[in-house]
Amino acid sequence: MKIGFFISILNVLVSQIASKRPQNVLFIVVDDLRPALGCYGEKSAHTPNIDALAEHSIVFRNAYAQQALCAPSRNSFLTSRRPDTLHLYDFNNYWRDFTGNFTTLPEYFKEHGYYTSSFGKVFHPGISSNWSDDQPYSWSAEPFHPPSQKYMNAAVCRGLDGKLHRNIVCPVEVEFQPGGTLPDVETLTAAVDFLHDVRNSSKNPFFLAVGFHKPHVPLKFPKQYINLHPLESVELPKARSYPSLLPTVAWNPWTDVRKREDVAALNVSFPFGPMPDSFARKIKQSYFAAVSYVDDLIGHLLNAVRENGYFDNTIIVLIGDHGWSMAEHGEWAKFSNFEIALRVPLLLYVPGQTDFKTSHLYKYTHVLTELVDIFPTLVELTNLSQSLPLCPENSKKIKLCTEGISLLPVIQNMQKKTNNATLNMDWKKAAFSQYPRPGIFPTMHPNSDKPHLRDIKVMGYSLRTWQYRYTEWVLFDNHNFIPRWANMIGAELYNHKLDPHENINMVNNKEMINIVQLLRAQLHAGWRYSLPKHLVKNIYN
Ligand SMILES: *[C@@H]1O[C@H](CO)[C@@H](O)[C@H](O)[C@H]1NC(C)=O
Ligand SMILES: *[C@@H]1O[C@H](CO)[C@@H](O)[C@H](O)[C@H]1NC(C)=O
Ligand SMILES: *[C@@H]1O[C@H](CO)[C@@H](O)[C@H](O)[C@H]1NC(C)=O
Ligand SMILES: *[C@@H]1O[C@H](CO)[C@@H](O)[C@H](O)[C@H]1NC(C)=O
Ligand SMILES: *[C@@H]1O[C@H](CO)[C@@H](O)[C@H](O)[C@H]1NC(C)=O
Ligand SMILES: *[C@@H]1O[C@H](CO)[C@@H](O)[C@H](O)[C@H]1NC(C)=O
Repeated sequence: MKIGFFISILNVLVSQIASKRPQNVLFIVVDDLRPALGCYGEKSAHTPNIDALAEHSIVFRNAYAQQALCAPSRNSFLTSRRPDTLHLYDFNNYWRDFTGNFTTLPEYFKEHGYYTSSFGKVFHPGISSNWSDDQPYSWSAEPFHPPSQKYMNAAVCRGLDGKLHRNIVCPVEVEFQPGGTLPDVETLTAAVDFLHDVRNSSKNPFFLAVGFHKPHVPLKFPKQYINLHPLESVELPKARSYPSLLPTVAWNPWTDVRKREDVAALNVSFPFGPMPDSFARKIKQSYFAAVSYVDDLIGHLLNAVRENGYFDNTIIVLIGDHGWSMAEHGEWAKFSNFEIALRVPLLLYVPGQTDFKTSHLYKYTHVLTELVDIFPTLVELTNLSQSLPLCPENSKKIKLCTEGISLLPVIQNMQKKTNNATLNMDWKKAAFSQYPRPGIFPTMHPNSDKPHLRDIKVMGYSLRTWQYRYTEWVLFDNHNFIPRWANMIGAELYNHKLDPHENINMVNNKEMINIVQLLRAQLHAGWRYSLPKHLVKNIYN
């Protein structure tokens, strides 16, 4: 009896020591990647490497960015605070100098003994990360940027006339590119070198962040990838014109697609288009080819993880920073509050915990998740802290807190292996996002796709529940960062059960009055009141 007791104590101690083993983190961010992946059921995708990672991961089917623009989205998930808290809706402010001295995800790991390293586009470069990827705070070493990224918008795309252009559709021969390479190839090489070198170094445990630039425009990729996506196989969405009941403020005129030489030559009318179908197919083909190219690079990266013996002790997260519209509603690019611009891939691989190989059913979850959830999740998975505190209403002075929640309960629920386990859990009731506009009607100047803070007059607040997306566009005080809910400019309601592509705005349907009232109250109350029940109680306390 006593001996058995001691043995079990011993077992507990041993397993506790074993469980304290540090876990590395590999954080992969893909620029402008919507869930155009095999593991998300996208039939046109050719993404064997990401799909293979998905075999070992939880695939979050309903994951959302907080704003469909690079800098605000990235600063948001890297600090776990929302755009309204960071006061960043454009590219032009650095939170530490402008808002508050908030701790970032990599900084937190660095402070807890991790070696943190950044390759490629992780923070958005420029003012929003103080021209330094938030150095010296976030990273243990100088972040790596691929030298050939300086040719990002150079005239390197061979046109039908045989000359070089600044096109959106840009399959290339890599050896003839300036420098004989492409940015994502350089990023991959540097990250793989890191993985080879880190094994016998003192850089352990590590937090390795790798950011790929494609499939962001221009769609420049090694031309052989186009063979995986024959033009005849490219399908356009059925509804691809301006939705009749859409308020104009919701529309993004896709300025950065229009300005490419090949698109400009089509004389597409501003702001509503349409883009000719024949060219729409070419863009979509190139987007999928660019995704296949990045998938290949990610395959090499994951091989390096395995070859160096890190697959069993490295947590892997893969995300897109926001979605990308390809002719849905007649729109292109991000810059909106539509599902297609906000929904992102989110894969989470935790060694020994997410290998639900027994059945495909258990790999997927439809629980609503937001990119702000990643920071608290990684902190808990590595046992660096039991949990991050939830940010109070005014968190300007608080360095470390989260506006997301840990996804650990989802993993634990899925381990119960009942195919609807996560449906019945106490979980957040909505995902929140927002997008600013300079006015009611789409404009080139100011650019209504990406207005500067000083020009922002309207904010669109969007709520995604299990069944609906509800969005309100209201006047916005850009000095005090306050929405004027009483001054509504337009609203949208989509029923995802009947209309998953958001083509029918039902906000003025008489039968929907009660639903609209409920969603409206939920939106105005804010994200805190849609948290799991046990956390909402804490707010009231
Ligand atoms: C964290 O702690 C839990 C529970 O003690 C354990 O199962 C897990 O393996 C630990 N993870 C790490 C990375 O130490
Ligand atoms: C902001 O935080 C960083 C890192 O946590 C710290 O080194 C720095 O002194 C802080 N700056 C201010 C102004 O408090
Ligand atoms: C941002 O960069 C500027 C210029 O290098 C520097 O003076 C300033 O201290 C930096 N801000 C922070 C919070 O480190
Ligand atoms: C790491 O060190 C071990 C033992 O010193 C050696 O056998 C191995 O080749 C080294 N690995 C690398 C990648 O340098
Ligand atoms: C676009 O407009 C230019 C100048 O008006 C004209 O030369 C060209 O043929 C037009 N292209 C198309 C595709 O209509
Ligand atoms: C799914 O959940 C319902 C309760 O909501 C339960 O009755 C049912 O047995 C569950 N099905 C499976 C396969 O777990």
